[in-house]
Amino acid sequence: MAIPRAVRRYVVSDREPELQITRSSGSHVFDERGRRYVDFLTGWCVGNLGWGHPPLERVARSFRGPDYVYPGYAYEPWGELAQLLVSVAPRGLARCARATGGSEAVDIALQAAMIHTGRRRFLSLEDSYHGNTIGALSVGESSYREHMPALLPNCAKIRTPLDERALERIRKRLARRDVAAFIFEPISINLGVTEPTREIAQEIQRLCRRFGTMLIADEVASGFGRTGRLFACEHFDLEPDIMTVAKALTGGVSGIGAVLMTEDVAASLREHGNVYSTYGWHPRSTAVAIATMKYLIRRRGPLLRGVERMSEYFRERFLQMPFDDEPELRIRGMALAVDIHDEARADAIQKRCRRNGLLLDTNDGALLLLPALTIARDVAEEGLDLLVESIAG
Ligand SMILES: Cc1ncc(COP(=O)(O)O)c(C=O)c1O
Repeated sequence: MAIPRAVRRYVVSDREPELQITRSSGSHVFDERGRRYVDFLTGWCVGNLGWGHPPLERVARSFRGPDYVYPGYAYEPWGELAQLLVSVAPRGLARCARATGGSEAVDIALQAAMIHTGRRRFLSLEDSYHGNTIGALSVGESSYREHMPALLPNCAKIRTPLDERALERIRKRLARRDVAAFIFEPISINLGVTEPTREIAQEIQRLCRRFGTMLIADEVASGFGRTGRLFACEHFDLEPDIMTVAKALTGGVSGIGAVLMTEDVAASLREHGNVYSTYGWHPRSTAVAIATMKYLIRRRGPLLRGVERMSEYFRERFLQMPFDDEPELRIRGMALAVDIHDEARADAIQKRCRRNGLLLDTNDGALLLLPALTIARDVAEEGLDLLVESIAG
């Protein structure tokens, strides 16, 4: 694989590029030599409907709206998109702020929580990931602090798993009534498809309400059908005060992010916040996001039933694979973690997969697969056969 000289020379990256991509289609991506890879990664929860999804492509190609709309003006499709998002969001979320991506959405969510509560402390899960802005890094894993001691100072972390002990620590921390928000992915893709029980998720929500802390559900990765429901919150009947989304909302066609919030939080943000975002909800992105939402709403039933069927197929195949020991399977819809509890081996399998023409990720000793929700059975089969080949070595 050749990484172009100018990319190496001029582009800042925090990791060595693994592939050069020139084209994508459905559940495949192609490198510079035209080699085809089965894509079980989908840009990390971006291409939920597969690459080149016709309804999104059509809208992007035929877009005839304004080049740009100044954030201080009104643009009717912004209202349409906000209304569509609110119509399927957990109860209570009534308004949307515009953002360019997930990190900005998380930052706006933190801002909203601080303004609404008048507090400036945060609580999140250790080793979580919520984006790359200073705010988002501050509520992410503690190790970022090593080289950036100036991250927001008041971010406490709760060690996972989210069990009774963790709940007790959350209770103690929130009881001081100085935490603006507890932020988490209800089903954490970044922590290898891990989740609390329904009782614990509900208790976290109850504690947040009792002690005046905003509950922020970060659905940037888990949103739009990834876990088998439109939002991961639905698995636990969570009704967060604030919810962030991005990634699959435009399926990779263009960038976007959104923060959904209650009327009360929106009122505080309107009064004292700053949500000016030059490229937040760019007209073209807005058109693609509206097309995504309309598709998801129209096809919700069959799409999510298809996810459950395909998820079961992946599970059955994993159970038959020649791992040395039986792996721990953590599966929610098309978020699939096969934990072999061996980082070196998981990384070696991932490398062999790539060599064999299959793209997936690893997470702390687990293989992490995030295929398109719409992946065809024969492509899934092809990818899983390549995985079997790669396990064997
Ligand atoms: C849960 C979560 N939140 C926020 C982000 C940041 O999103 P973006 O990369 O669009 O800024 C990510 C990115 O992977 C994410 O997984």
